[in-house]
Amino acid sequence: MLSTVALILFAELSHAFNCSTPPIYVDMHKRAVHGTNVFQYGSFIGFGSPAQNQSLFPSLRQNETSVAHADFCDGSSLPNCLDATRGNFNPSESRTWNQQDTYVSTDRASVSNESIHGQDDIHIYTHFFETEPAFQTLLHNFPVEVATNGSVSPGIVGLGQDSTLLQELFENGFIAGRTYSLYVGSGTDRAGGKINGSNVLGGYDAGRFTGGVHTYGIRASEEEPLNVRVTDIILDEPSGSMRNVSLFDPQEFPDNQAKPLAFDAKITTDQYPMSLPYQLTQNYISRLAAKPSGNPDGSLALSKPFNGTMTFVLSDGFSVTIPSEIMYNSSGISPVAERDEDSNAPFYLGLSWLSQVYLMIDYDAYQFHLAQAVAENKAVMPKTWCPKTIPAPYVKPKQSTFGREGLIGAVIGGVIGGLALVALTATMFVWWRRRRASEKLMKQIEASHGKAKMLEAGFEMEKFDAPPTKEASSRTSIWRR
Ligand SMILES: *[C@@H]1O[C@H](CO)[C@@H](O)[C@H](O)[C@H]1NC(C)=O
Ligand SMILES: *[C@@H]1O[C@H](CO)[C@@H](O)[C@H](O)[C@H]1NC(C)=O
Ligand SMILES: *[C@@H]1O[C@H](CO)[C@@H](O)[C@H](O)[C@H]1NC(C)=O
Ligand SMILES: *[C@@H]1O[C@H](CO)[C@@H](O)[C@H](O)[C@H]1NC(C)=O
Ligand SMILES: *[C@@H]1O[C@H](CO)[C@@H](O)[C@H](O)[C@H]1NC(C)=O
Ligand SMILES: *[C@@H]1O[C@H](CO)[C@@H](O)[C@H](O)[C@H]1NC(C)=O
Ligand SMILES: *[C@@H]1O[C@H](CO)[C@@H](O)[C@H](O)[C@H]1NC(C)=O
Ligand SMILES: *[C@@H]1O[C@H](CO)[C@@H](O)[C@H](O)[C@H]1NC(C)=O
Ligand SMILES: *[C@@H]1O[C@H](CO)[C@@H](O)[C@H](O)[C@H]1NC(C)=O
Repeated sequence: MLSTVALILFAELSHAFNCSTPPIYVDMHKRAVHGTNVFQYGSFIGFGSPAQNQSLFPSLRQNETSVAHADFCDGSSLPNCLDATRGNFNPSESRTWNQQDTYVSTDRASVSNESIHGQDDIHIYTHFFETEPAFQTLLHNFPVEVATNGSVSPGIVGLGQDSTLLQELFENGFIAGRTYSLYVGSGTDRAGGKINGSNVLGGYDAGRFTGGVHTYGIRASEEEPLNVRVTDIILDEPSGSMRNVSLFDPQEFPDNQAKPLAFDAKITTDQYPMSLPYQLTQNYISRLAAKPSGNPDGSLALSKPFNGTMTFVLSDGFSVTIPSEIMYNSSGISPVAERDEDSNAPFYLGLSWLSQVYLMIDYDAYQFHLAQAVAENKAVMPKTWCPKTIPAPYVKPKQSTFGREGLIGAVIGGVIGGLALVALTATMFVWWRRRRASEKLMKQIEASHGKAKMLEAGFEMEKFDAPPTKEASSRTSIWRR
């Protein structure tokens, strides 16, 4: 009897996830935004009617999506304010703005203490081909926080565990569940600005990661709920004399009283450098001759060149290697922050660490997954991520149909080269076949580049071996459990 009730409940729950719903892909790169001529790095989103466009940065902590008010910089202490807000928004220029003074924020700690809340249209843009226009997912009456003053950049897509964006998209049937994947890229000024990133709402990009997928629990009671345990940190400089030096090794660092302990670190997009325990930071300083850099993010600089890597080993064996160009960039700055001996601040793995990692969060399963990122990926392959399943990377079919070269157009989103375009077009076809827009898009591509050219390039629609479909079996696996 009880099990029948449980089964019915389960059926109801699994029914709530429509895993045929395609994901929403939002690329991250530098672009023009409302209110400044300076290009800003972030996710392409616009508010209001007509749309005032932004380039918002994803936050894993904030739940609300927020934007700078057009007057934000009048009183703000944000350095270089007008060019650092990631675009601003003027509610009085939007026909659809609806101010809501009684709105209760899902954030306990807001991005700004001086904000107004309201509802407006949100335009979420997907832009694959530089030569084609972006297309949009449009949500009406979306709650947005408009910061009128503050000291940090308020241009944020809230993707924390109570994300209003994921919730609204899910409730309105735009995504399969509250799943989200992120590759941050390296487009911020601090990172040097080369590789574009991407967000996939309700999905993941199967072409953006490789190797084993590692699973971790979400600590729902914590404001920053994505924690991993770091068990080792290894410096290695094959071209020099420093080979496999563990920052945890008491023999390498005899000043230490005791071997440092493994520690829990939080994954964050709020800062670039890593914040490590004091003792490990001291070992890093002594081995790499590090000193303060003067950068406001607290990064250390190295006083002599280091042509090596730093590998983080996590408790489950997953390891992440920070390449030499990040360890010691052309200005000599490195990705580890200073730390006071008596600091109680959490330990962080920031954007420098995430530049090597593909992060996949399943808020419906209270789990997240990490895998080695493919920084310069060959194709964008957005896939639906059905909650409670584990994403799988795209595996190249043995008999490649993309053997020969072809050039269809310039592509945004970290996709480079002619070969890539062919694979991308094929993927997009598979993906967009399921959307009403697909025919229109294919016609556009055909019109501008010609079907012959696509075939000439070795592109065969029917024979394309689509990425493995996990979600097809998701419902049955829920039943089996
Ligand atoms: C599930 O989503 C697909 C694709 O968006 C749609 O065609 C279908 O009608 C949806 N099914 C249900 C039961 O809502
Ligand atoms: C915002 O971006 C969309 C999509 O590219 C574009 O159609 C629209 O004109 C832009 N709005 C402004 C004010 O530039
Ligand atoms: C904005 O906030 C700053 C402190 O961050 C304060 O000094 C300033 O007076 C405020 N400006 C306005 C217009 O409220
Ligand atoms: C976002 O929501 C979660 C869950 O309610 C909460 O723990 C967290 O503090 C919120 N984030 C912020 C920045 O307040
Ligand atoms: C908001 O005000 C509180 C109390 O004055 C302060 O501690 C906090 O840092 C402020 N938050 C922001 C985002 O400015
Ligand atoms: C090195 O880091 C500095 C400080 O963040 C940054 O301004 C510069 O662009 C970086 N250079 C490269 C080549 O990444
Ligand atoms: C840096 O290291 C790589 C291999 O680790 C080596 O190929 C390269 O020559 C080195 N560069 C310098 C300037 O030593
Ligand atoms: C450093 O460690 C790696 C991984 O354990 C190993 O493959 C390599 O041989 C080591 N190199 C040296 C010089 O010890
Ligand atoms: C990143 O995006 C920009 C803007 O579209 C584009 O010009 C650039 O080529 C892209 N970079 C890479 C490495 O794909």
